Amino acid sequence: MSTIAEPLRLACGATLRNRLAKASMSEQLADRGGAPSDDMIRLYERWGRGGAGLLLSGHVMIDARHVAEAGNVVVEDERGIDALTRWVRGASAEGAHAWLQLNHPGRQSPRLFDPAPVAPSAVPLEVGGGVFAAPRALAEGEIWDLVERFARAAAIAERAGATGVEIHGAHGYLVSQFLSPTTNRRRDAWGGDAARRRRFLLEVTRAIRGAVAPGFAVAVKLNSADFQRGGFGDDDALEVIEALGDERVDLLEVSGGTYERAVMFGESAPESTRRREAFFLDFAERARSVARMPLMLTGGFRTRAAMDAALASGAVDVIGMARPLAVEPELPAALLGGTSLGAHTPRLATGWKTLDSIVTGLWYQEQIRRMGRGLEPSASLSRGGALVSYVGELLRHGTSGLRHRRGFGPSKEA
Ligand SMILES: Cc1cc2nc3c(=O)[nH]c(=O)nc-3n(C[C@H](O)[C@H](O)[C@H](O)COP(=O)(O)O)c2cc1C
Repeated sequence: MSTIAEPLRLACGATLRNRLAKASMSEQLADRGGAPSDDMIRLYERWGRGGAGLLLSGHVMIDARHVAEAGNVVVEDERGIDALTRWVRGASAEGAHAWLQLNHPGRQSPRLFDPAPVAPSAVPLEVGGGVFAAPRALAEGEIWDLVERFARAAAIAERAGATGVEIHGAHGYLVSQFLSPTTNRRRDAWGGDAARRRRFLLEVTRAIRGAVAPGFAVAVKLNSADFQRGGFGDDDALEVIEALGDERVDLLEVSGGTYERAVMFGESAPESTRRREAFFLDFAERARSVARMPLMLTGGFRTRAAMDAALASGAVDVIGMARPLAVEPELPAALLGGTSLGAHTPRLATGWKTLDSIVTGLWYQEQIRRMGRGLEPSASLSRGGALVSYVGELLRHGTSGLRHRRGFGPSKEA
């Protein structure tokens, strides 16, 4: 029977020392060139001491012209490799595996950061009012360029010492936009039916595999569903997982939701789900029958009892936690050592639909920023305090400071 303390050997040959993973949280702590800052390195040294077997970075952008937020790390060439190397070394100094999560936001980037977004099809987001610019459809040549960019970023991550990468195929970003019939209305080789909609993810996975050593881990974060009418559903997700079985994927992380339906944060989770904590456990149980790779489940886990139960049920192999580790960075070690039975993290809803939930997101971001500065997280911080601090940050850097210096500007191919 698996428990959180048991090691896990992956197909690439790497061994995770336990079943606890820090899931991705966008740190927004890169410098203006898109390289990890000293604060970011300090943050991961702290998480590296926290006991998790696997640390997934926040999403790292593969194209400086299209970033999701201010302060995202960008990996498109070797320019930031020294800082990347120090970052990865800090994260893995105590034995954790450090993987970079690679992402392209597609239409999910506020116009402040991406005034000319690209997407599989020109379908604008239904939330955010005028915050998000409408995307234009990618040309075929641009799609291949993006496939290559994912592969190049993975190769650079490997050279920087990371032991793996995760393709962000969830939460409504570009890969998920390709997967969903509501956002992919193409009628060419990249859309039109489920097989063609998943082609982008499969090509990215193959290209990455071809660019890294066999011992390097390749993971995918995938939505169990988008939870939107006519969108990417759980049967579609099962087919994707089945298809990824042919692609030497080492770990598949299950999540769900998009900016339009932020279920990844537990929004409107039914009571039965709340009891088992994990939001997508029912789906993971179904995925198990088709998955040929280990499964990681992220979203809602807070107590060791629920984690051990999920592992013991055989449905999942790795437990992902995000928000608790923004407030209790040493929680994995405490759970493993038996000094904690679960996270004390307040359960604050987050999402994109309301100002209230955006401010809650800033609250977690502020905890991350505090750790980057070498301070303790502050569970007693008010959300108003987090908002004030964020606005202060904006004023300090100016809105132009939010944009990445290199290559930033209206999309060159526009
Ligand atoms: C501040 C913050 C930033 C996040 N950034 C990312 C990200 O960059 N990539 C990603 O896949 N998920 C991201 N997430 C989602 C988490 O990885 C996770 O799926 C979600 O928070 C649910 O897990 P939890 O209940 O353990 O927090 C973020 C969550 C938060 C709170």
